[in-house]
Amino acid sequence: MRRKLVAGNWKMNGSRASLVELDDIAAAAVRLPQVDVGIALPATLIALAAERVPALPIGAEDVHTNDQGAHTGEISASMMRDAGARFTIVGHSERRADQHEHDLQVKQKAEAAHRQGLGVILCVGETLAERDAGRAEQVVTGQVAESLPDGAASDWLSIAYEPVWAIGTGRTPTTANVAAMHGAVRAELRRKIGADAEQMRVLYGGSVTAANAAELLSAGDVDGALVGGASLTAEKFIPIVEAGAAIDRAISG
Ligand code: PGA
Repeated sequence: MRRKLVAGNWKMNGSRASLVELDDIAAAAVRLPQVDVGIALPATLIALAAERVPALPIGAEDVHTNDQGAHTGEISASMMRDAGARFTIVGHSERRADQHEHDLQVKQKAEAAHRQGLGVILCVGETLAERDAGRAEQVVTGQVAESLPDGAASDWLSIAYEPVWAIGTGRTPTTANVAAMHGAVRAELRRKIGADAEQMRVLYGGSVTAANAAELLSAGDVDGALVGGASLTAEKFIPIVEAGAAIDRAISG
């Protein structure tokens, strides 16, 4: 049985004052131990957050491909870990679009993070034009195939399927579409890594809220959620964690 993972991603939001939100999120994570919870934060907040809520895994939103060097403005995985991060997101569609990150770079970032002992959430997802052209599955499984790090294993890597058109838009795919895509991702993982694919978590991301979390999290092959907007406050995020915990209870009886 795969444990559910509900991870937040603050993106370029938040300040020192907003870290107060983490207090209740950390308490909820302790109260709901059947779900893994983490929050990825802007680099400026990681050390403060890790010190403030040591029990809550704090993550980075990106890392560089290299461990150190002359890369002005960049931050390496070892620096993130030193600041207190325990995991990182790589390959988020906003970085693939804004920074033109490609699959090979995403793969190298995941490998760099793993070298430093960070967990990794690797994002994939199709654009609306790709979905409308009937290419969604091909695009997404292609991204999995090309960006999967060497040595990928379920104890440190999760995949997040995030349709680009569902991110921050309030639109979500049907649960049937989500289940079909997660099945396709898992089939690709089986081809790449064999039996461990059954243990690897495949999260859904894109406009997850308290209102739709229970439905999305119970779709076939969905092992958790990557949450942007609704992770910015404890009030919006905790019900999503609770939805994950309720499904776990329902499954385990
Ligand atoms: P959203 O973002 O929940 O605000 O749609 C999700 C993500 O980009 O990870």
